[in-house]
Formats: sequence, structure tokens, C-alpha cells
Amino acid sequence: MTSANSVFQIKTIHEKDLTGQKRDQLVQWFKDEFGYIPLKWAEPQWYVLAFNDSELIGRVGIIDRLILVADQQICIGGISGVIAKNEWRNNGIGKKLMAEAVKAIKDKLNVCFGLLLCRKEVSGFYEKLGWKVNDFPTTFEQPQGKMVFPNLTMTYSCEGAFFPNAPIDLNGLPW
Ligand SMILES: CC(C)(COP(=O)(O)OP(=O)(O)OC[C@H]1O[C@@H](n2cnc3c(N)ncnc32)[C@H](O)[C@@H]1OP(=O)(O)O)[C@@H](O)C(=O)NCCC(=O)NCCS
Repeated sequence: MTSANSVFQIKTIHEKDLTGQKRDQLVQWFKDEFGYIPLKWAEPQWYVLAFNDSELIGRVGIIDRLILVADQQICIGGISGVIAKNEWRNNGIGKKLMAEAVKAIKDKLNVCFGLLLCRKEVSGFYEKLGWKVNDFPTTFEQPQGKMVFPNLTMTYSCEGAFFPNAPIDLNGLPW
């Protein structure tokens, strides 16, 4: 772990504004961390990135998506590939990345709901930040057809908004 006083900078960037090299680095990092999950994933439209000087030390992708919740259409920001570099973990980077991602969902996507898929082992991290577990199945598309996500789906609602606790169809590839 790096010192708790370490300084890092956070930047929100549209995928179109990434250099080819940075895009490749982000794609590779996602594969290295989550490549063991045999799914085809959606590509993020936005990224929230953490840097220490020029070194990339944290990342979150954001997907702009219209999903179906109990057949009701809802625009959400999908949170994808939340990663803090191993030696930088427990320094508040994940928390700061998620705060900026929620801000981007409101300010860049103009929506008030977030949705992410995760393993039970990390749900506590998101719960601390106000995310809630959805109790119903989440389905999504894969080249071979529709699938049900085997782990947890969590949602975030801006103040005053309410995300229905109901079955979810991601209406496309997962993230
Ligand atoms: C999950 C991850 C992004 C957290 O990043 P981080 O920078 O270490 O987290 P932070 O230092 O901001 O932690 C914020 C809070 O969450 C807590 N926390 C961190 N990981 C946690 C976990 N797995 N479960 C429960 N709480 C956790 C911290 O203790 C801290 O609590 P505090 O505010 O009470 O002190 C990081 O561990 C990671 O990259 N993991 C590997 C990739 C991964 O699994 N990502 C999630 C995919 S869904």
C-alpha cells in the first residue's frame, strides 16, 4: 500500500478523447482484472480515471443505457470495471472514483440512476457509498442469447429518486 497521504488526481473523459494508447491500456487493464469472467462486455462511453502524476492508478467506465425495469424504460449510467491499482488500494481512490462517477452520471448523462454488477465480496464497498442490492434477476444479451447475471446487481438513486426493486433487463451487453 502507498502512503495514505499520497496525492492523486481524478479526471472524467469521454472515450472519444482518449489517445489510442490510453484506450488500449484501459481495455487491457479490464481484461487483466476481469478476464476470467467468460462474457462479452459493453464498451464505456465515459471514463473516470485516477492519476498519480502521469501514472494511471484507478479507473471506472460509464455506460449510457436505456434499461427495462419490470418493463418500464429507465435511463441509467452503468458503472463498469472499478479498479484501483493493487499497490494503491485502501487510499480512498475507489471511493473518490465512485463519487466522481456518480457526478458524471448526473452532469454528463443527465440521469439520476446508476447500476453496477458485482461479486458479493465487494458489495460492502459499494454499500458504504449508498448503493443498494436489487433483489430480482438481471438479464442481458450475449452472442449466444439472453443470460441471467449470476452475482449481484446494485443500484444508486440520486436524492429524491427511487429505483424500483424489480427484475431488470440491461437491454444489451453487460458491463
Ligand atoms: C474495490 C476497489 C476498487 C476498492 O478501491 P480502494 O481504492 O481500495 O477503496 P477505498 O480505499 O476508496 O475504500 C473506501 C471504503 O471501502 C472499504 N472497502 C474497500 N474494499 C472493500 C471491500 N471489498 N468490501 C468492503 N469494503 C471495502 C474501505 O475499507 C473504505 O472504508 P472506509 O471509508 O470506512 O475507510 C479495489 O479493491 C479494487 O480495485 N479491487 C479489484 C477490482 C474489483 O474487484 N473491483 C470491483 C469490481 S465490481
